[in-house]
Amino acid sequence: MPTLAIVGAGPGMGLAIARTFGSRGFGIALIARTKENLDTLVDQLGQEGIMAAAFPADVLDRASLTDALDAAKARFGGIDVLEYSPAPHSPVPGITLATPSEATVENLQPQIEYIFYGAVAAARAVLPAMREAGAGTLLFTTGGGSVDPVPMLGNVNAPAAALRNWVVNLDKELAGSGVHAAHVAINVWIGEGGPEGFPTATPEQIAPLYWDLHENRDRSEAVFNA
Ligand SMILES: NC(=O)c1ccc[n+]([C@@H]2O[C@H](COP(=O)([O-])OP(=O)(O)OC[C@H]3O[C@@H](n4cnc5c(N)ncnc54)[C@H](OP(=O)(O)O)[C@@H]3O)[C@@H](O)[C@H]2O)c1
Repeated sequence: MPTLAIVGAGPGMGLAIARTFGSRGFGIALIARTKENLDTLVDQLGQEGIMAAAFPADVLDRASLTDALDAAKARFGGIDVLEYSPAPHSPVPGITLATPSEATVENLQPQIEYIFYGAVAAARAVLPAMREAGAGTLLFTTGGGSVDPVPMLGNVNAPAAALRNWVVNLDKELAGSGVHAAHVAINVWIGEGGPEGFPTATPEQIAPLYWDLHENRDRSEAVFNA
């Protein structure tokens, strides 16, 4: 069974991407910090006929992230698609917001660890086997500010732009290898409760883009606009 591993799997994009791939025959490895929340998602997906399993880990603890991906590989027999999209909907130690002029090494470092280094660590855990197989897909998610930054997200947008740059370059390096890498910039507020006037979309509206990038393999970046 082909397998998708979602790093930062929650009830929004995580669940919608799991359903998109799961309904097409993928097994789903769900990675986030809170085991109870992951177990709820596993149950939900199971009721829909999708095989999923939980592998708790924290992207800020890179050894735990690598261990979780290794356990997912052992459980499913390999990882065919990796998707990286953690979001600090409940507090993450050290994660705060700062405008560009407020940015300091201290408030940038945790964001870099969270957005960029976690993604690189996740990719390094699965890429060697993908290269050997000559097949695989690496998908990474940020907000629209990775492309067109907004001042209130100064210390988020800079590491997200670094991730974006690295993913596009990784895909160039992997050309002809059978492994495809792509970045998704979600340029909307997901779900309800966003700032007034800000465009919104549901996870279900956005998730098919991930299947398209995996299936068509024709671009290393997609921007989702409302
Ligand atoms: N929400 C928006 O409006 C919005 C807008 C633009 C782009 N995005 C992008 O969309 C993606 C998130 O989608 P979503 O908002 O719908 O979230 P989601 O998939 O519902 O949830 C993300 C999950 O990430 C997990 N997480 C948080 N910190 C973590 C950590 N340190 N290690 C491992 N897992 C962690 C959380 O679970 P635990 O707390 O259990 O760890 C959370 O449930 C992100 O890439 C974000 O940049 C979101």
